Amino acid sequence: MSSSEDQTNQRVPQHVAIIMDGNGRWAKAQGLSRLEGHRQGAKRLRDVIRWARDAEVKQVSLYAFSTENWKRPKLEIAGLMTLMATMLPLEIPKMIEENARMLVLGDISKLPWLARKALNRAVESTKNNTSVDVILCLNYGGQQEIVEAVKHLFASFDDEKERAEAFANLTPETLYAHMGRDDILPVDLLIRTGGEKRISNFHLWDAAYAELYFTDTNWPAYSENDLKEAIADYASRERRFGKTSEQVQGIADE
Ligand code: IPE
Ligand code: IPE
Ligand code: MG
Repeated sequence: MSSSEDQTNQRVPQHVAIIMDGNGRWAKAQGLSRLEGHRQGAKRLRDVIRWARDAEVKQVSLYAFSTENWKRPKLEIAGLMTLMATMLPLEIPKMIEENARMLVLGDISKLPWLARKALNRAVESTKNNTSVDVILCLNYGGQQEIVEAVKHLFASFDDEKERAEAFANLTPETLYAHMGRDDILPVDLLIRTGGEKRISNFHLWDAAYAELYFTDTNWPAYSENDLKEAIADYASRERRFGKTSEQVQGIADE
């Protein structure tokens, strides 16, 4: 069904999604401002693209700002947006050199103009690159994404009968087709840094069968070794997608 399912025995996750958490706590522990924590966290973003590519991961999703993060103090939000507008353009040459393609998930129309401009430029300048996809998730919410898909689906019918038929025959595949993103693979490995064990509205759809990995390391301190450990842990797991272990190992009937 999904490409992940075909790859049951593949040891390298094709799509790694990261909840980059712990910037604030990291900064506090060093006696620094939260914004300095975000600045150091943004630097790790550059590294993780290279580490993922070197590990032969095809896609890496990075949760940078959730739909719920608008509830933060206005000054922190402004700082995050400015950080993006100023740091992202500096990353473009590096991404080109590394043959990395940037994609964006989330409603960026709500972001300040300068941040949007930086994002659009990064996406445009890297669109033909092929070594690794960096999916920056901004003003992203898994629930909102599903709601938008439902709205899109039902707006696509003119008559009531067609709509009722589509509703009766609705499947995950038909709804997914309305999410408008052909290029995104199912999440194989979902990593959260910073010690919390929750999903916080990230990739609710795509992570349906993801392997979950939690680490206490705060995002600004995240290292290549941490990523390698997460991938090694992933490699040791048996992904069953509903089947029995015997079936997966090929010692029982399909
Ligand atoms: C994650 O770090 C970055 C964003 C949500 C933008 P936090 O800012 O949530 O850091 P903590 O959880 O307060 O330590
Ligand atoms: C999740 O982190 C969002 C991002 C990393 C961008 P939060 O720090 O906002 O998550 P909660 O609110 O503690 O669950
Ligand atoms: Mg947090």
